[in-house]
Amino acid sequence: MSHDRFYVTTPIYYVNAEPHVGHAYTTIMADIFARHHRQRGEDVFFLTGTDEHGAKIARAAEAAGHTPKSHADTLSAKFRDLGRVLEASNDFFIRTTDAAHITEVQRVLGILHARGDIYKGSYGGWYCTPCEAFYTEGELAEAYTCPIHGTPVEWLEEDNWFFRLSAYRERLLAHFDAHPEWVVPTPRYNEARRMIESGLEDLSISRSQISWGVPVPWDPEQVIYVWVDALFNYWTALGYGAGADGARYWPPDLQLMAKDILKFHAVIWPALLMAAEIELPRRLAIHGYVLKGGEKMSKTTGNLVDPFPFIDDYGIDALRYYLCREIRFGEDGTFSAEGFDARYTGELANELGNLLNRTVIMIDRYRGGVVPADQGEDRALADEVAQRQAEIVAAFDAADITRAVEAAWVLVRALNRLVEQRAPWVLAKDPGAAADLDQVLFSLAAGLTSVLVLLWPIIPGSAARALASLGQDPSQVLLARATWGDGIAGARVTAIPPLFPRVEGRPE
Ligand code: MSP
Repeated sequence: MSHDRFYVTTPIYYVNAEPHVGHAYTTIMADIFARHHRQRGEDVFFLTGTDEHGAKIARAAEAAGHTPKSHADTLSAKFRDLGRVLEASNDFFIRTTDAAHITEVQRVLGILHARGDIYKGSYGGWYCTPCEAFYTEGELAEAYTCPIHGTPVEWLEEDNWFFRLSAYRERLLAHFDAHPEWVVPTPRYNEARRMIESGLEDLSISRSQISWGVPVPWDPEQVIYVWVDALFNYWTALGYGAGADGARYWPPDLQLMAKDILKFHAVIWPALLMAAEIELPRRLAIHGYVLKGGEKMSKTTGNLVDPFPFIDDYGIDALRYYLCREIRFGEDGTFSAEGFDARYTGELANELGNLLNRTVIMIDRYRGGVVPADQGEDRALADEVAQRQAEIVAAFDAADITRAVEAAWVLVRALNRLVEQRAPWVLAKDPGAAADLDQVLFSLAAGLTSVLVLLWPIIPGSAARALASLGQDPSQVLLARATWGDGIAGARVTAIPPLFPRVEGRPE
């Protein structure tokens, strides 16, 4: 996957309720990928945004006593603000109520209609509004409830426009066969493939009973099904949110989402693109759920963690680090205040923060604040840095963020061992050990610089502050900067307040 541009997306979030840690999770993971690929010198486009049409939003607005648009404006702004607080470096924030999005969705659907891929029919089925999706009886949970939300489904019957999804079965299967890594991890690929094998029904792509949506261009009495409107955001955004030559980013290199929306992205989305003769995304990376007390965090079940208190108390980098380290990317993982505090204190503060602090203090005390020259005695450590860097790049290519952070942390631990084993405070008392002391101090500064560059996508603010304290330019974070020893000797270090200060009390 090495080419010079990289397009990464998150799902666009529903504006029916406030953002929670589950949304923050996907945005942070996408941001980590975006930053990593920028470190490779690639031309990155990172897209996120909000999904604002459909019955779910219209009902939430009504319940709040607002028009759908004013409700969407308020909630969309909250998702946008959350992105800022998360330090998400997205290049654009799309809203499906953007006029340019609406026009383009209508244009593309017009093409599908003209080609005969859309026809009129009638449909009756069990509908889950929180999912904005129909279910067959066999898919429902007990007592006619949604298999995802556990809430009652409704019988919905209307004359709609249909997309010939069933006609794409063979082409979809051929695509899966030709691209065995287009959905990762593999169990999700298999799951999506099974959905296609087990038969596809045509998809109702319009609604007549609701008005909050994009009008069907050839039948304005109906609005476009919110999922079809939403999926095309990944395409429409490039037309007006990515500058004059936005089309160069197509197709997406990496689309992130949780497994709840696998079918929409791995079955319906590629079929719609095939019908529109648009090139398919290169990869979907499906992650697990952030659980609270063993259950998926979701506004429908009300089982939520508000990210803001954690960010206020511990800082955004602590949340970013915790989520990618604690939850194995691709699997479910539990968010807990205790676990958060333990990783913050045990790893960020004690392992990384203290390492930086000790290094700077020792260089100050023993070498007047200037990093000494490399004596060439730590080749093994230099090799380990190079190996871990290669491992991190491979982990990102395999869409495995957790493995990437683990590999970086191996280096943090190796550097802490170096301090313990070589005990610079002992060497400092022995005038005959000056060269040894030079080597240890150099190795610590060099190793830390590399590890901070490697950790920058995960903890960007802290990594930048730490690099500055080591006398390094914090804006230079290309991966090449992680090469052992470049620009280290002679750098002037400056002590800074603790990177990860002690936190008194903690949010529930
Ligand atoms: N609007 C649709 C997506 C349309 S994309 C064309 C939607 N929105 S949503 O607000 O429900 O967000 C779903 C996404 O938010 C999940 O796929 C996932 O990326 C993220 N998450 C929401 N809750 C989550 C967890 N509890 N855990 C992990 N991710 C979560 O579906």
